[in-house]
Amino acid sequence: MKSYIQFPRVEGSASRQAHADLPSGTFERELGKEGFFGPATHMYHRHPPTGWTNWDGPLKPRAFDLTKLNEEHPSPWDARLVLHNAHLRMRLWRAPRRMDHLARNGDGDELVFIHTGRGDLFCDYGHLEFRAGDYIVLPRSTMWRIECAEPVTALLIEATNSTYRLPEKGMLGPHAIFDPAVLDVPQLDDAFRAQQDEAEWTVRIKRRNAITTVTYPFNPLDAVGWKGDLSVVRVNVADIRPVMSHRYHLPPSAHTTWVADRFVVCTFAPRPFESDPGALKVPFYHNNDDFDEVLFYHAGDFFSRDNIHPGMVTFHPCGFTHGPHPKALNNAFTPKKPATDEYAVMLDARDALEVGEAAAGVEFTGYVDSWKTPAPPKAAE
Ligand SMILES: [Fe+2]
Repeated sequence: MKSYIQFPRVEGSASRQAHADLPSGTFERELGKEGFFGPATHMYHRHPPTGWTNWDGPLKPRAFDLTKLNEEHPSPWDARLVLHNAHLRMRLWRAPRRMDHLARNGDGDELVFIHTGRGDLFCDYGHLEFRAGDYIVLPRSTMWRIECAEPVTALLIEATNSTYRLPEKGMLGPHAIFDPAVLDVPQLDDAFRAQQDEAEWTVRIKRRNAITTVTYPFNPLDAVGWKGDLSVVRVNVADIRPVMSHRYHLPPSAHTTWVADRFVVCTFAPRPFESDPGALKVPFYHNNDDFDEVLFYHAGDFFSRDNIHPGMVTFHPCGFTHGPHPKALNNAFTPKKPATDEYAVMLDARDALEVGEAAAGVEFTGYVDSWKTPAPPKAAE
């Protein structure tokens, strides 16, 4: 049983309500444990916590432009490694028009996020169409392949030795954010039956990151029926209905979409800005001290980040304070538009992530300096 000091102490000038009604002339920083769920303190500073002038050493905010990884790979097992640790592998895959083999991941569940394109997935469970903005969860050891109607770029996020689950919805109730009924599953339809044949097929199985190829004299995607509560599932980001408060800027954890053993995946979808005059309208400065944070920018205008476009990834290892860029801070209390216009996939990892060779080759090295601009406005004085 964890035992924390469960009550707040107050020293000096502080707001009674986090993220609202800051002491005049201050910048709020949240120091927090357990990824926005544990003990936290809100500190009120005279200077923006990202007002640094220089960094020297391996720790820093990093950004990678994955749009520069243009090479197509016939198999998902050749996709380019972006970030990884013992519990997850995030890769970028530019798929071929048609996979000529079946893939099977023996290392863990695979979350496929379709960044661009559309096509058809064929798997043990049947046929499922997909399009940009789809999350597809492939349970460990599912056999699958895709055919692309338009060029497909996808993020592959392996939950190594783990299983993707839906988050606890708590007092929001089970139908908030998205109703489990919007989760689609594959069907044993005409398209599925049409791809069955007696030709030779290979299955490339990944286990402990080594590939084994198994050959069949027929297409093993030949099910005539199934029943159970394990399946490939699909949900599109357009079906996510984000929770928000007009009086309080909710933490990223309110947008959790998938949960694995040592990381979570959240989705930022368009939502109105807070309307209460004293409420923060942009992410608060924070050090999420127990998690490495990763954001993949899918579509839209990224209101809290300068110099970032769709297809880029930012990586903020734990250990320093981050927060909105100066341009966004100009909108901290008076946004210039009524709603956010961004779709982004966030990955929060409990264990330190390593940067893959492919990502390191397309790093935007000026990212750490992108907070250096004239001082942003303070809370209303
Ligand atoms: Fe963060």
